[in-house]
Amino acid sequence: MKAFKLTENVKGYQFGNPVDTGIIQLEKEFGEYVLPFEVKKKDGHSFIAFPLTDADRVFGLGPNLGGINKRGRQYESYCTDDPIHHEDKTTLYGAHNFFILEDDDVATGFFIDFPSRIRYDVGFTDLDSFSIDIFGEDFGLYIIEGESMKEIVVNFHEIIGKPYMPPKWGLGFFQSRWGYETENDIMKVYRTFREKDIPLDGIYLDLDYMENFKDFSVSDDRFPNFREFAETLKEDGVRLIPIIDAGVKIEEGYDVYDEGIEGGHFVLDETGKPYVAAVWPGKVHFPDFLQEKTRKWFGDKYKFLTDLGIEGVWNDMNEPAIFYDKISLQEGIDAAIAAKGENLGVLPFFALRDKFQNIGNKNEYYQRFYHEIEGRKFTNEEVHNLYGYNMTVSASEGLKKHLGKRHVLISRASSIGMHRYSGIWTGDNSSWWSHLELNVKMLPSLNMSGFYYVGADTGGFGGNASGELLTRWMQLSIFTPLLRNHSAIGCAFQEPYSFGDKVTGYNRELIKARYMILPYLYSEMLKTHEDGGMMFIPLSFEFFGNEALIAEDQILFGEELMLAPVVRSNAKGRHVYLPEEMALIDFSREKVMMKIMKDGVQYLPYELDDLKFFLRRNRIMPYVMPSASVKDLDMTEIHIIGFVDTEASYTLYDDDGESYDYEEGGINRTKFSVRVLEDGDLDVRVESGHPVIRRVFFTIISGNEEILMKEVEV
Ligand code: GLC
Repeated sequence: MKAFKLTENVKGYQFGNPVDTGIIQLEKEFGEYVLPFEVKKKDGHSFIAFPLTDADRVFGLGPNLGGINKRGRQYESYCTDDPIHHEDKTTLYGAHNFFILEDDDVATGFFIDFPSRIRYDVGFTDLDSFSIDIFGEDFGLYIIEGESMKEIVVNFHEIIGKPYMPPKWGLGFFQSRWGYETENDIMKVYRTFREKDIPLDGIYLDLDYMENFKDFSVSDDRFPNFREFAETLKEDGVRLIPIIDAGVKIEEGYDVYDEGIEGGHFVLDETGKPYVAAVWPGKVHFPDFLQEKTRKWFGDKYKFLTDLGIEGVWNDMNEPAIFYDKISLQEGIDAAIAAKGENLGVLPFFALRDKFQNIGNKNEYYQRFYHEIEGRKFTNEEVHNLYGYNMTVSASEGLKKHLGKRHVLISRASSIGMHRYSGIWTGDNSSWWSHLELNVKMLPSLNMSGFYYVGADTGGFGGNASGELLTRWMQLSIFTPLLRNHSAIGCAFQEPYSFGDKVTGYNRELIKARYMILPYLYSEMLKTHEDGGMMFIPLSFEFFGNEALIAEDQILFGEELMLAPVVRSNAKGRHVYLPEEMALIDFSREKVMMKIMKDGVQYLPYELDDLKFFLRRNRIMPYVMPSASVKDLDMTEIHIIGFVDTEASYTLYDDDGESYDYEEGGINRTKFSVRVLEDGDLDVRVESGHPVIRRVFFTIISGNEEILMKEVEV
């Protein structure tokens, strides 16, 4: 083992001869550092075990099931296409090996830099033990220190590099559905949004737009005028965001296939032939994104889309998902033929059934194709979690090169490191109330891993959403940087206008509210980009005590807000834990209302047409008037609301929303300050660095519940 230092707060330990995953961004300073616990080895695995006291808790592990506190469950890091996230699932699409172990006195962060499977048993099998099983002997282990959990996260972000920053339009509202098949279908969605006065910034195109599920193709029949169509919508602020899948259809004469074969870009099987798997188009080859030349080649293919006016893409099926491979399908067919005419008892029947029922994403598929890194040959299984990550690096570099300005990019599979290149959606959730609650709990751990442009399929992907579920979900999602309503083919339609006038009205107001707070969300993203840290913060990262720990369906947003969405059906309200006195903000029905609420557990009425959240003491937040899309957002007039009994300020970060200038000082800052004077008057100040802000309206609730207002010309 070699030990080294990365920063004052981060020590690293290198075991064996790990591959360079590209995650760590800093130079190693080797030295004599002692690892404060033992790493055991057996049968090619490495094991770490931490004893757990009753007070210990564990946070992090990225996109996973379970609570904010990960204790009491098992998890696996192994990018997996799992369309049904039942309670007992241990692994989803991402592999994020960052976690914090905390008791009442100390917190320590850990990151395991290892690209294959890791199993975590957090007090599940043994209540008093947190055991980690690393499926290999070559890895990096990092210990991250800090004064608080928030600081540990900041210190971790320092070593993994700055996150992807979408263009500002990426924070708008997006409609999506697998099954919008034609230009007409898309046109209908667009028109309905405009007719019903619901803001919209884009429509995602699922695989229906392609010609026979071929990447970088558009069906001429279904989209005869794709380019003009995309441009016309864009003029009205509505962008099309097509999907790209990892598998490339095997078809001679198809340029991507031909070039892939010629250039040696596909992953190979044991015999040195391109590995054959099956996904949407039937048989496919997978580009070997772990090769630089392949990343470049595939990245350049995105030019096909940018030439059509496209500025955003979603990368899918990049775990990679495999429906079946040649060998397993043949085994199933052989078994079925052998069973013909037999009288199958339970076990032979189950064995036959499993040949087909569990044929998708079998682990043995990932042992049947290879990658070469630095002259060493690996099965995909051994470096599995780098695949989707590198597909997304490829897309990011291609889009950046061919667009010349910022793009929207989200990926389904993810690893830490990929946060520098794209955002993520949390995959194929279901229209279940439990998945709405899961969405709340997942947001902080995604931020811990460095991902900010995140969101779930609002309303749920699989299953049928009700108007009530969609509306409640929207009450959370209007705060998530990625806001997309997406559903699966065959499920009930769940566009915001699909549930009758009443629900349409509720959703219209919610989406408008999203556009009202959008400058604040965007500012928080730019800030987090600058400084690291989290936008969505568990209550227990900020407040002590058991209540803060168990209130896992509430989270803090930025320094200002606390969110406590309703996550149960038929609720007319909910109990909220207020760790301190806060102002309840009621953003409903075009009127912003404020009321101070005492600390402790309180019952909060919360009707379906409400939008309620909390503002912390001596904090203010900006908002603007809603618009039909981000391009029309009017920043000349800013409204500030606040709960102030002494003084408060907020610095709004903004930029041109589309160039990369923010990386080199292109951010403008406007500081709003408020002071409540002894005579009850309001002293306000605006130091503007913004090119268009002209007028600011302050509405402040003071400590003694008085509403104070002031207007300022800038
Ligand atoms: C995958 C994606 C889903 C998409 C579907 C069809 O299941 O996760 O979002 O709609 O494929 O492309």
